[in-house]
Amino acid sequence: MEKGSKLATTYLDLIFHHISDLIFFIKVVDVHHYEIEAVNEAYLANYGTSKESISGRRIEDFLGVDQGMQAIRRFQEVIIRKETIHFEEGYTFPKQGYRVFEITLVPMIEGSSVSRLIGAARDITEKRINEEHMIHSEKLSVVGQLAAGIAHELRNPLTSLKGFLKLIHVKNTDQDIERYIQVMDSEFHRIEQIIDEFLILAKPQKTNFSSHGIDHILDEVIELLNGQANMKSIVLKKDYPATLPNVYCESNQIKQVFINLIKNAMEAITEDGEITVIAEEVEDMLRIKIKDNGIGIPHEELNKLGSPFYTTKESGTGLGLSICKQIIDRHQGEFCIKSKEGEGTEVTITLPKAV
Ligand SMILES: Nc1ncnc2c1ncn2[C@@H]1O[C@H](COP(=O)(O)OP(=O)(O)OP(=O)(O)O)[C@@H](O)[C@H]1O
Ligand SMILES: [Mg+2]
Repeated sequence: MEKGSKLATTYLDLIFHHISDLIFFIKVVDVHHYEIEAVNEAYLANYGTSKESISGRRIEDFLGVDQGMQAIRRFQEVIIRKETIHFEEGYTFPKQGYRVFEITLVPMIEGSSVSRLIGAARDITEKRINEEHMIHSEKLSVVGQLAAGIAHELRNPLTSLKGFLKLIHVKNTDQDIERYIQVMDSEFHRIEQIIDEFLILAKPQKTNFSSHGIDHILDEVIELLNGQANMKSIVLKKDYPATLPNVYCESNQIKQVFINLIKNAMEAITEDGEITVIAEEVEDMLRIKIKDNGIGIPHEELNKLGSPFYTTKESGTGLGLSICKQIIDRHQGEFCIKSKEGEGTEVTITLPKAV
């Protein structure tokens, strides 16, 4: 009997110290005061601390006041309910940053009250990120199929309209009508461009990669959008050298990225606007930034950016950033958005230099 219980303790000890979940024993001093009594190796590794410096400490000493209170509210829930609870909660650590945990808290009841709590926390941050990626790519593939269908349906009537417009152009002798024809032709061209933009979302794409100077691409985009910027009294500034290295890219797609980003910047500006396009060489990469002093994006909305159909605009489709992300991905580049509400937004793109 004695031998059996010793063995069981050894097994429990092994599990306690070698399991990857964080296990902690909390002593309930009173309903507002909780001390750490013992933790396992995984817990110590997570906090980068030692057994000596942690035991006997109050929970808020190393979780911080706000996060400590967040934990204490959960402890109080167990004490009141006198039963085990399971929940998911996020905590921020100095080294690892924000992590999401699946936590179980078990009460140890002595007499009529809870004297201790046993906790087990499993880090599920990666699992959550992977799930979000899956949802995101699932949405994109649905959008892709939809886009392909719509584009296919629109292409045929458009081709016949363009054909008839050409016939009218050939037969027409009236100057006024000729002007209308030209406007119609350029509008048809725009419709075709929109369809192409939409089709970028549909995989697989026939792409025509070649080496292009990023300075030329940026110059062309800025020239294209300068008129629109002027109309809104927005200054569109260039901050890059006259010549920059080439990138191996599908130039129309890369142009599309900058058009989408500068349009977003213009739409975010209500008055006294300034948009700066910065580009520089950083080792074997090119870093391009589009910076605006517009309304910015609230912190809690930042992780929604790039999800298809996420928009805060009445007439927006919410596809602009999704398209940008997908194009940059296809170019082995990186895409990052920083923003502060009321101050502005900075979108950074890095692309590999052509070799
Ligand atoms: N520079 C920016 N400043 C402030 N908010 C921005 C900026 N860029 C994007 N956003 C926010 O992100 C959302 C999504 O942008 P996205 O370009 O994907 O779609 P959209 O601009 O709403 O529509 P569209 O498909 O016409 O581009 C916007 O609705 C806006 O709320
Ligand atoms: Mg947009």
